[in-house]
Amino acid sequence: MLFLCPCIEQESDVFILVIPCYVDESYLQSGDGSSQISATINAPRNDYAEYAAHALVNGKLHIFGGVSYSKKIARLDDCTLNELTVRLNEDRNYGHAALSIENGKKALICFGWNGDFRKTCEIFDGSTTVSTIASNWTHHYGGLGLYKNQPTSVGCYDEEHQKAETLSASGWNSLPDHPKRISEHSLVGLENQSMLLIGGVDWGNDGVIQSGIWQLKDENWNQIGDLLQTDYGGSAIYTGRSIYYFGYVSEAITRLDFNEVEELQSVSKIGNQPSDFYLPVLFQTVSNYCI
Ligand SMILES: *[C@@H]1O[C@H](CO)[C@@H](O)[C@H](O)[C@H]1NC(C)=O
Ligand SMILES: *[C@@H]1O[C@H](CO)[C@@H](O)[C@H](O)[C@H]1NC(C)=O
Repeated sequence: MLFLCPCIEQESDVFILVIPCYVDESYLQSGDGSSQISATINAPRNDYAEYAAHALVNGKLHIFGGVSYSKKIARLDDCTLNELTVRLNEDRNYGHAALSIENGKKALICFGWNGDFRKTCEIFDGSTTVSTIASNWTHHYGGLGLYKNQPTSVGCYDEEHQKAETLSASGWNSLPDHPKRISEHSLVGLENQSMLLIGGVDWGNDGVIQSGIWQLKDENWNQIGDLLQTDYGGSAIYTGRSIYYFGYVSEAITRLDFNEVEELQSVSKIGNQPSDFYLPVLFQTVSNYCI
């Protein structure tokens, strides 16, 4: 007899659209590693996604800022990145981050550089942007992830600190320092309140590239595993109890599998990116999307 669990997606059903800095190098990656196919995405410019941050709003992929236009907000409709008339309130060229919040209804966009290292944040709800509370510390390339359902950032590329803080209704509150002076990692919130930090660069150690998979849980940082290679500047997406990490330096696509209570079970390589794509935009979709 065959038992199938309808609640958990199988890796073979997962497809991830990857939009790198050059849009014409986009591809569709299967979660089981069996296929990687070119995807055709249209955009106003080929470097449209370079240094852009991305997040889902109402189920749609949006990209924010980046060097091609630092105030842009663009939405992926069908296979086209359409620039919206609504703009970010502030220029965010690079080093900023975006995160889906409020069950995917809005995105929080924070940090970035435009002559200074911004601590500012704004919230986009699909049609308008409003400024919200700025962080206390800088978090250039510190990322954003959900910890206990609250936006959280860790470390900073420029000020090389190890400060973590989380945004509540009343403002940003301190969390325990990360053990390393880290940046250019990926942050991924798990369903049950903890947050993972993957890879990055350790400024306490001359910028050594990291392989660590760290978990912030019950206000404690613990290393729970390692990537198969050191990496930074990648992007990660969590779906069907697996995190897919698209590495920049190693170019490896790594899958971290978790059990039903979200304990890390295995780390495996499912493929390679076609090139060294820095902070690629990721979007979970269907098997024939834009190919
Ligand atoms: C806020 O940041 C400043 C440095 O910019 C630091 O001295 C201060 O302790 C921080 N406050 C908290 C609550 O972390
Ligand atoms: C998360 O916690 C809830 C409540 O304790 C539990 O019902 C659920 O199964 C947990 N989910 C995971 C993924 O651990």
